[in-house]
Amino acid sequence: MDSENKPLLLASSLAAALTAYLLLKAVFRKKHAIPAIIGQEGVLASWMATYKYFCSPAEVVQEGYRKYRDGVFRVPRLFTWDYAVTGAKRVAEVGAAPENVLSFYGGVEDSVQGLYTLGKDVLHDPYHQLTVRTSLTRNIGRRFPEVRDEIICSFDDVFGLQGSEWKRVPVIESVMKITARTSNRLFIGLPLCRNQEYLDLNIRNAVDIFIHGQILSIFPEFIKPIVAPLIVTRKKHLRQMLKFVGPMIEERIAKEDELGSDYPETPNDLISWMLEVAKREQRHAPGIAARMLATNMAAIHTTSMALSHVLFDLTTYPQYIQPLREEAERVVKEEGWSKASLNSMHKIDSFIRESQRLNGSGPVTMIRKVVDPNGFTFSDGIVIPYKSLVFVSAKPVHYDSAFYDNADVFDGYRFSKLREAMQATEADSEKVFNRQIVSTGSDFLVFGHGKHACPGRFFAATELKAMLAHVLITYDVKAEDEFSNGVRPPNFVSGQIDMPNVKAGIMVRTRQ
Ligand code: HEM
Repeated sequence: MDSENKPLLLASSLAAALTAYLLLKAVFRKKHAIPAIIGQEGVLASWMATYKYFCSPAEVVQEGYRKYRDGVFRVPRLFTWDYAVTGAKRVAEVGAAPENVLSFYGGVEDSVQGLYTLGKDVLHDPYHQLTVRTSLTRNIGRRFPEVRDEIICSFDDVFGLQGSEWKRVPVIESVMKITARTSNRLFIGLPLCRNQEYLDLNIRNAVDIFIHGQILSIFPEFIKPIVAPLIVTRKKHLRQMLKFVGPMIEERIAKEDELGSDYPETPNDLISWMLEVAKREQRHAPGIAARMLATNMAAIHTTSMALSHVLFDLTTYPQYIQPLREEAERVVKEEGWSKASLNSMHKIDSFIRESQRLNGSGPVTMIRKVVDPNGFTFSDGIVIPYKSLVFVSAKPVHYDSAFYDNADVFDGYRFSKLREAMQATEADSEKVFNRQIVSTGSDFLVFGHGKHACPGRFFAATELKAMLAHVLITYDVKAEDEFSNGVRPPNFVSGQIDMPNVKAGIMVRTRQ
């Protein structure tokens, strides 16, 4: 055969094999008692439905939520069905299910192809989540002065204001730099938290995991091990991360081995916290560095998206600026800047929670894989088959008038008003906690709910409140011309992505 035609022949054979495989998969896709929202009948309908769900999952999930309140419905993926769950009781059951029945990391494996993008070690022993849950969260108060210092410096550097003129700043780009720096002041401290190459690596890593996961998910299982090494940047990023943190980790391990884990001046940072929980055989630089990348991945983008939404809400609804500013100034005057004093900023907490309620979640959350060969059985007997993905519909809940009055209207004081009303009656006083940004529930799913509810939310909430209070006290903000008529910059929505507007900016100046 002509050698020029070989690649063409190979590509067409691969395409033919793939088409045959997809056809067979679609024909033999399991029938099930649970209703399908779209794509129930026939190969063509099934493919079209898969395409529709891939492009507009929000629409499909909203339709399912409307039709099957407190129920379960199916949505089609290329090779299988996923199962969406609605209603408080079912959300609680998914949230409480043990890892060996409904697996969080099985969900990560499927949704971002974690075996390839995160690596087997991190996926099968994600002890960084324990670190976040324990030492990291316990140290937020103690390390808060440094976090506060980084907030001041990073806003100052990134906004780069001179004189008293208004300046346009692009929101996502600025906020990503600020959040990466601030989070890493807690994780790894100075000077690395200000090293732009290190921060860019961590920002890039999270984006790559998501994008490469999406690309890999369209390939059948048997092709993934061949394709993954060609596109996935995990090993490259780990090598780069090791250049920054490898020597520090090795030195730390050597010192702990020699002097014990609590030798004088043990640095109080993510490396030490990871070493506290790592097993003997996991105490090596690549393992710790991989989990530092994973922690950054979980922290930077989520918090950046939240802060971007908060800034867009602040400039879209400027009537909140003065009352929130007054609250921040009063609390700082009375109690100073600390993790504890931020808890007294009820309106600021409420504003952020409301911002997250309306924009903090995509159509679904709490993705789990059924790993029990008997499937997962809800208390009313409905069974989700083995190896399926289950998730909870999120955004439709946050916009449901059964849970929120005027659900699609932004009310920055929604939760602080509830807190005040509850505080007034003694019987309700313990419920006050349920209205704070960090509390999860079947009607507030931004951080998930149950066993795997985000363990980083206490740090995220501290950061977000401290950042918003800092912006209010230090700067004047307003919408840029294009959005100055009260129209919120529309979210960027594409397939599973639902994020703040990527191009919009806001106007800032030093407070007059
Ligand atoms: C506004 C910011 C954040 C949002 C909206 C957010 C959201 C979430 C969500 C939805 C989950 C999955 C919950 C579930 O499936 O039940 C999660 C898990 C997780 N988050 Fe966050 N997160 C944020 C910030 C952070 C930060 C700052 C950290 C680290 C310091 C962090 C670390 C984690 C980890 C380690 C997990 C996995 C939990 C587990 O293995 O059980 N997150 N987060």
